[in-house]
Amino acid sequence: MYSVSMKEKVVVVTGAAQGIGRAIALKMAEAGCRGLSVNDLRMNDAAQSLKKEAEALGAEFLFTEGDASDEKTMRKLIESTAEKWGRLDVMVNNAGIAKSNDLLNTTEADWDLVIRVNMRSTFLGMKYAAEYMKDHGGGNIINMGSIAGITGGNTSPDYGASKAGIIALTKFGAKTLCKYGIRVNALAPGTIETEMITRNFAGLDPESLHKRLSAIPMARMGTPEEVANVALFFASDMSSFITGESLMITGGRVS
Ligand SMILES: NC(=O)c1ccc[n+]([C@@H]2O[C@H](COP(=O)([O-])OP(=O)(O)OC[C@H]3O[C@@H](n4cnc5c(N)ncnc54)[C@H](O)[C@@H]3O)[C@@H](O)[C@H]2O)c1
Repeated sequence: MYSVSMKEKVVVVTGAAQGIGRAIALKMAEAGCRGLSVNDLRMNDAAQSLKKEAEALGAEFLFTEGDASDEKTMRKLIESTAEKWGRLDVMVNNAGIAKSNDLLNTTEADWDLVIRVNMRSTFLGMKYAAEYMKDHGGGNIINMGSIAGITGGNTSPDYGASKAGIIALTKFGAKTLCKYGIRVNALAPGTIETEMITRNFAGLDPESLHKRLSAIPMARMGTPEEVANVALFFASDMSSFITGESLMITGGRVS
């Protein structure tokens, strides 16, 4: 059996305590990465158990607490990673939030928050990681988009807009960072079974919920691990001629 190896690599993941970020972090540890540097809002029980699992898989672990859309947190995340391991191979900009609101009920505060957390964190992660990678042999940046960034989404206007922005940032980064040996790609998942989806679906009436689920040709939600598999592909040399791509992981849903 062929397996993709991340041996010796150092990987950073934002928003990694739970959900898709956690699955990506553990996938990198399973693939043998040396260092796993993760961020989340706080070192809670989920983050503690991630540390345990990652270390049991043989990865060295570093945690940076704080808001990924805050400049100080992101500087610290990259600087402490570089200081601990002297390298940074893969940056996964995963942290994100979603709200469930139609256009008329979306407040200015909702809009600002979603755009800030989703897009600004991605911009900062790309900027600081690239700053380090360009002088240290290149690397891979993986951004968390969404099918909502391609189709406009169904959840709220700010969410789809933020993810469309991330897809544009991915293309811009790919074109301009190639010269430093840095590839930039995005994941564009559909409906993936995490707390974010549980929260969003909790507000739907049965008919709307049925409509959402029946729009998935494979007739099920995806798992965080199915997204993590694609992250591993982008992080490895298996995807060496791919940059600027946003890959849909949607069970066949295209709209
Ligand atoms: N679940 C889905 O169906 C789905 C689909 C497409 C894209 N996504 C994207 O995947 C990413 C992860 O989503 P998830 O479903 O795992 O969500 P989740 O809510 O289960 O987990 C998100 C994690 O990010 C952390 N986080 C939130 N805001 C943060 C911030 N400002 N700074 C640092 N950490 C922060 C949370 O504490 C949590 O640990 C998000 O960017 C989301 O938009 C999810």
